[in-house]
Amino acid sequence: MSDTASRPTESAARPQRTAHKRRYLMCRPEHFTVSYSINPWMEPSRPTDTALAVRQWQALHDAYRELGHEVELIDPLPGYPDMVYTANGGFVIDGIAYGPKFRYVERQGEAPAFIAWFRANGFDTREPEEVNEGEGDFLLAGDVILAGTGFRSTGDSHAELGRVFGREVVSLTLVDPRFYHLDTALAVLDPVPDADGRVNIAYLPSAFDDASRAELERRFPDAIRASEEDGAVFGLNAASDGFNVIVSPRAVGFAEQLRERGYNPVAVDLSELLRGGGGIKCCTLELRGAAGGSAA
Ligand code: ARG
Repeated sequence: MSDTASRPTESAARPQRTAHKRRYLMCRPEHFTVSYSINPWMEPSRPTDTALAVRQWQALHDAYRELGHEVELIDPLPGYPDMVYTANGGFVIDGIAYGPKFRYVERQGEAPAFIAWFRANGFDTREPEEVNEGEGDFLLAGDVILAGTGFRSTGDSHAELGRVFGREVVSLTLVDPRFYHLDTALAVLDPVPDADGRVNIAYLPSAFDDASRAELERRFPDAIRASEEDGAVFGLNAASDGFNVIVSPRAVGFAEQLRERGYNPVAVDLSELLRGGGGIKCCTLELRGAAGGSAA
């Protein structure tokens, strides 16, 4: 059985896109709150609504399931309100899970739980030496890994990542504290390259320094450049299966840009989780199995 399904395009001018079945790791935000501040979005003085966070998270979970994706769950740990942002729990390709080493002490206790989950679920785990926040800062784009630095993951982690996976790592420097992880400023739209080996990305140009912007323009001349407005509502923190792109309902212009390229934007609102500085992609860690497939 094939794990892909072709969808008809809306108009002949729009490229045909293909949805690819994905496997994701998520964590129910049972202990979600904002009790400390490690990014500009977090305001501990404003009370949070944990039940609302759980309901919104559930809608994201259910949207993935309805699209036919597999969702694995890791148990939430009391005292670790940011564990819902599983993207930071590691980076997984070919069944190899490179573990996280969190920058701030508030999240460091999550790392052993993620490593234990990978081990218990049959992944080949690699414990990191260098500070890195997993798929929050590392995104697989075809053959290369795009890797963010500037706020969380270090440049040394990019070198370590290259050694672990034996792939080219393209370092990108983030400069706006609101966009402190790569996945807040850049989305990979094609989990699987097209017949010509290409993948589309979308990004917020102002979140990067000049050299990184030039590198992105050179490598991805056809990329979607998102507007400041769509970036500011975490529009780039989106999850794509190659056709369906789960995206914030506030990123109206970005949704239109996606439609023009033949993608199907699916709106899911995670407003309560945005108060921790995370959105759709932050709550989603991709589990790429052996031979590049989506299952381990
Ligand atoms: N409060 C969390 C932190 O600052 C949010 C993490 C968001 N995750 C992400 N992949 N961008 O670490």
